Amino acid sequence: MIQSPLNYTGGKYKLLPQILPLFPADIETFVDLFCGGCNVGINVKAQKHIYNDTNRYLLYLYNTLKNNDIDVTLETIYGIIDKYGLSLVSKYGYDYYGCDSSSGLGNYNKDKFLKMRDDFNHNTAEDYYYYTLLYVMIVYSFNNQIRFNSNGEFNLPVGKRDFNNSMENKLVSFINVIKTQDSHFSCLDFADFDISLLTEKDFVYMDPPYLITCATYNEQDGWNADKERQLLDFIDHLTEFKIRCALSNVLRSKGKENPILIEWLERNKSKYVVHQLDYSYANSNYHTKDKIGRSEEVLITNY
Ligand SMILES: C[S@@+](CC[C@H](N)C(=O)[O-])C[C@H]1O[C@@H](n2cnc3c(N)ncnc32)[C@H](O)[C@@H]1O
Repeated sequence: MIQSPLNYTGGKYKLLPQILPLFPADIETFVDLFCGGCNVGINVKAQKHIYNDTNRYLLYLYNTLKNNDIDVTLETIYGIIDKYGLSLVSKYGYDYYGCDSSSGLGNYNKDKFLKMRDDFNHNTAEDYYYYTLLYVMIVYSFNNQIRFNSNGEFNLPVGKRDFNNSMENKLVSFINVIKTQDSHFSCLDFADFDISLLTEKDFVYMDPPYLITCATYNEQDGWNADKERQLLDFIDHLTEFKIRCALSNVLRSKGKENPILIEWLERNKSKYVVHQLDYSYANSNYHTKDKIGRSEEVLITNY
């Protein structure tokens, strides 16, 4: 199983052993409609893969990784780390930077990271270098997140980790797969995705922002009740056209519930199957006696 090189928030990597066996085996075109870190599409066998997300930076970054020579990408990454004097613990160890694993590398990297972020935010040539620089910023940023303010500036602070061996291995495996897959990247609101080109042999996987949980992509009205309803209509259309699909979501989480989704499922009992997933298996922070704090993670399929 290959893990996204972005450690993407809300990524489904840990749930893959439960999700993938629920997908059909024979897929011509696999659409990862809210692809995020691509954890799902990258691990699905299909003749063609379409990765879609509204975050255009992600899609340009994936295109850069696909189209650039892998050695050139790694050389550029190490060149950027060297240029800004960022830490490289895999080569020099923590002592060299006066840091340790538990408190991390934030103190050492802070100024260097801010200089890199400033250069990125003033860079207007959105070329391969720019997107490779974006990748390095994500690696060195707080919790490896991606967040731009309303002026289009990357605005996360420095994080605790750096480009270690595990990150490099994930990146190399990921690039090898997207280069071998017949992979295509598109940047559309899900509602504008043209389903008329899909057939019964294709498959659409949807992992939208969850209405009742929080992530950076939920901010700035990134997801709301209207979008949730629009998505459920979209799924009804797919079902009408006999296009197989699956939706990841939570029905309840941390004492909240999603009434829109629950009512829709109630109304459409005969059309959709709800597969309960074992979230405790996927989340190591799950050891809580507090049932209210738990998430009811599900996969909803129309087959
Ligand atoms: C839960 S994440 C997907 C995680 C992904 N499945 C993974 O495993 O890495 C949801 C994604 O939906 C994207 N998104 C938000 N609104 C969208 C919309 N209207 N259309 C398409 N994508 C959207 C966000 O940018 C985010 O990357």
